[in-house]
Amino acid sequence: MVLSKAVHSDDAALHCTFASRYVRAPLPRFKLPEESIPKEAAYQVINDELMLDGNPRLNLASFVNTWMEPECDKLMMAAVSKNYVDMDVYPVTTEFQDRCVNMIAHLFNAPIGTDETAMGVGTVGSSEAIMLAGLAFKRKWQNKRKAEGKPYDKPNIVTGANVQVCWEKFARYFEVELKEVKLKEGYYIMDPEKAVNMVDENTICVAAILGSTLTGEFEDVEKLNELLTQKNKEIGWDVPIHVDAASGGFIAPFLYKDLVWDFRLPLVKSINVSGHKYGLVYPGVGWVVWRSKEDLPDELIFHINYLGIDQPTFTLNFSKGSSQIIAQYYQFIRLGFEGYKDIMENCMGNAKVLREGIEQTGCFNIVSKEVGVPLVAFALKDSTKYTVYNISENLRQFGWIVPAYTMPADAQNIAVLRIVVREDFSRSIAERLLSDIQKVLGELEEHYEHVTKVIATQVDIQTGGAGTHKSEHEIEEGMIASWKKEVNRKKRSGVC
Ligand SMILES: Cc1ncc(COP(=O)(O)O)c(C=O)c1O
Repeated sequence: MVLSKAVHSDDAALHCTFASRYVRAPLPRFKLPEESIPKEAAYQVINDELMLDGNPRLNLASFVNTWMEPECDKLMMAAVSKNYVDMDVYPVTTEFQDRCVNMIAHLFNAPIGTDETAMGVGTVGSSEAIMLAGLAFKRKWQNKRKAEGKPYDKPNIVTGANVQVCWEKFARYFEVELKEVKLKEGYYIMDPEKAVNMVDENTICVAAILGSTLTGEFEDVEKLNELLTQKNKEIGWDVPIHVDAASGGFIAPFLYKDLVWDFRLPLVKSINVSGHKYGLVYPGVGWVVWRSKEDLPDELIFHINYLGIDQPTFTLNFSKGSSQIIAQYYQFIRLGFEGYKDIMENCMGNAKVLREGIEQTGCFNIVSKEVGVPLVAFALKDSTKYTVYNISENLRQFGWIVPAYTMPADAQNIAVLRIVVREDFSRSIAERLLSDIQKVLGELEEHYEHVTKVIATQVDIQTGGAGTHKSEHEIEEGMIASWKKEVNRKKRSGVC
């Protein structure tokens, strides 16, 4: 079974463009070709097809970094054949990972003694990091329940309904119930009070998000810590907190030093962050760090020795590339604290320009907050003429990929557009995008007027012309209903 489906054609053969200079026969699309082809032809065929992919820099749906310096590209290419898991063969790469884990743990204020090292691991992204953190919580809770002679078959995690899909994956793959705090119109993050009310004896952790995927907003981890500490004390529990800082983990420490969200809060036992988002590395690298050794049950760590020395590992996959780890280390030593701060400040400045420009159109309500991940999420003030889906679709003609989606329960009736501001999104790009948004609004307005006239003519014909007995109100209602049908025709939803 193929799980993804992109551009589809029934034609089972690939008819190549310039590669016909090298090969005459078409290539089979779904079967391994019988014969080899020259390397120039293989390059040409693939390069030509890839032209039809979108441009990552115009993909404003994604938080993932798209650009690194050529010096780092060079280091990454040189390491592309190194399997990260062969730690005794590549001890320097392993050492780089350890340095990165320690730098992140210090950045997140982990209580590490002077002669101690931090506990954490590099992963493929925040999703794997969250799986590992979730497994650690689940195992710790199970061990405790077993020791107390209590049932341990119904673990749950309390989150907001705004969690990224990786939490739902964790819940389903590892059989943990996800107890979601519902959102409401105008409030799109987890309410700490409601979250704590949902905690019970089977709760393995409460997961808070520093930078909600949907709006970029930071959840109030400090308040959550305070309320949960109180509840734990009252009932005699020790329910911990995980912070999903996939995006916010490389923003808050540089821009909001006084915001207390990390290991300064005693109940925060683990934090994940995506190296490939605001960590400024190409995709796939993420990190998970634990507060201390006690928070990661030893039985989850595998010790392998057949490749040479004893190698402790806690990952879902065995083999993986080394380049991203090296690239993360490059960014850390290249940029330092001040370099990251400058980049994040610049992103925030560009997000502000964008937010103000969008507000000035007069057509939108801004849903994202000024403090948070540099992004702008905005909803139409009036969706009767056209929807955010129409805007998203029309922006495609200029090459922009701007996702439109509805909020999760109980705010499903709110549909928004979201533009993520990354390092590669300059002020001039912001200005160009604003001008294209204006053009799209103009086009949609014109289209609305045109369709309204056509519908009015049809209604007129159906009701027998000017001498009709239908009231003005009835005619207007008929027109709005027809227009709504037109607007909703291509409604889609989706967000990464
Ligand atoms: C809050 C949050 N958590 C987790 C993830 C998953 O991260 P990754 O793509 O690094 O696996 C995302 C991705 O956007 C996210 O926004």
